[in-house]
Amino acid sequence: MRKGLFITLEGVDGVGKTTQALLLKAHFEQQGHEVVHTAEPGGTELGKKIRQLLLDPSHKELSPMTEILLYAADRAQHVHEKVRPALAAGKTVICERFVDSSLAYQGYGLGLELEAIRAVNHWATGGLVPDLTIYLDADPAFCLARTKRDRIAQRTLEYYSRVREGFLALAEADPGRFKVVSARGTREEVAARVLRAMEGEVL
Ligand code: TMP
Repeated sequence: MRKGLFITLEGVDGVGKTTQALLLKAHFEQQGHEVVHTAEPGGTELGKKIRQLLLDPSHKELSPMTEILLYAADRAQHVHEKVRPALAAGKTVICERFVDSSLAYQGYGLGLELEAIRAVNHWATGGLVPDLTIYLDADPAFCLARTKRDRIAQRTLEYYSRVREGFLALAEADPGRFKVVSARGTREEVAARVLRAMEGEVL
C-alpha cells in the first residue's frame, strides 16, 4: 500500500463506522503504516464547536443553507489543519465522513442542490477527493436504534431512507472510488469485507 492514502468511511448514524475505522487502523499499523484516525464534524478544536452548533437539539431554526455551510466550514478547517498535513507527511488518513456525507444528508436527505454542495465543498477542501471510500450499508431503522437523539438523529426514518438511497446512488456513479460493503454481521465479518473491498484498489 502506498503512503499518504486518504480513506473515508461513510454510512448512516449508528452503522458502526468508528468500530471499523479502528479495526482498519490497527490492520494498517500492523503493516508498519502511520495512521491518523479522524472524523467529521468535529475533527479539530474549532470543529468541535461547530459540531455543537450543528447537533444542538434547541437549534430548530437552523436553515438548510446554514447547515451545509457549517459542515463545509468544519471540513475546511479539518482539511487545512489535520488531513492535508498528515497526507503530506506520508501518513494514511482514515476519516469518518467527508463530502459524500453532505451530498447524502443535505443533498438527498434535505433536497439541496447537489451541484451547489459539490461547488461549496470543492472550494472548502481545495478539491481534495478520497483515494477510497467505504460505504457501510445497513437498514437505517436498525442503525438508528443504536444512536443518541441529537438534532439530526431526530429526523424521520423517511429522511434516513433518502440518505441511504443517496449513498447508494453516489457509490453507483463512482464505482472506482466508492465501495459498498454490507454492515450486517459481526464486526470481524464486516472488517473482512472492508479489506476485500480495498483489494485491487489501494492494497
Ligand atoms: P456522526 O454521528 O458521524 O459524528 O455525525 C453527526 C451527524 O452529522 C450525523 O447525523 C451525520 C451528520 N452529517 C451531515 O448531515 N452532513 C455532513 O456533511 C456530515 C459530515 C455529517
